[in-house]
Amino acid sequence: MEFQYRAAQPEDAPAIQRVAGESWHFTYKDIFTFEYITNFITRAYAVESLERQIQNPKHFFEVATTAKDEAVGFAHCGNRGTDAELFRLYLLPEYLRRGIGGTLIRRIEERLRAQGYSKYFCYVHERNEIGKAFYLKHGFVHVLERDNKDEKDWYMEKILSSNHGER
Ligand SMILES: CC(C)(COP(=O)(O)OP(=O)(O)OC[C@H]1O[C@@H](n2cnc3c(N)ncnc32)[C@H](O)[C@@H]1OP(=O)(O)O)[C@@H](O)C(=O)NCCC(=O)NCCS
Repeated sequence: MEFQYRAAQPEDAPAIQRVAGESWHFTYKDIFTFEYITNFITRAYAVESLERQIQNPKHFFEVATTAKDEAVGFAHCGNRGTDAELFRLYLLPEYLRRGIGGTLIRRIEERLRAQGYSKYFCYVHERNEIGKAFYLKHGFVHVLERDNKDEKDWYMEKILSSNHGER
């Protein structure tokens, strides 16, 4: 199947919330309770706040869609102090391992380079084996000293090369 990629629009907010919900229940089912995840998604992915973030020029939102423009995944990155943070990267579970996540972060990285960033970072739960494997494969390194130990999150950082290829 061919996938398409584009910057998110405010109208994508409900689809992004749905993708996040399915992906969180799949990814964190052995880490957080069903109720915790459901409440978290309602709160952190409220449609109105997603719409505001999508329109905020300091946030970068990319979506991956089917040929029928149905969202299957998204990436959300933004400014955090002097650095940039990849806040969220989630796909519907049936679309894993087809290169979509890699393409989403390549697109995010092009936008970060254009804004003058030379590196960016993300946090990934220490028990999220798929997430950790993905980031390591795509050029991130684990910086142990900067882990968020309270949340059991690894701090992972990627240096952006000046050309447009993978490091
Ligand atoms: C993380 C994620 C966005 C990566 O996107 P993707 O399209 O699946 O990844 P790509 O196809 O671009 O890259 C493939 C690599 O991702 C990792 N990966 C993806 N799916 C995997 C799976 N089911 N099992 C193990 N590793 C997996 C592997 O490192 C894989 O490389 P490999 O095939 O050589 O082993 C996606 O897997 C996802 O949505 N996972 C659930 C949510 C999540 O963990 N998000 C990150 C939160 S911090």
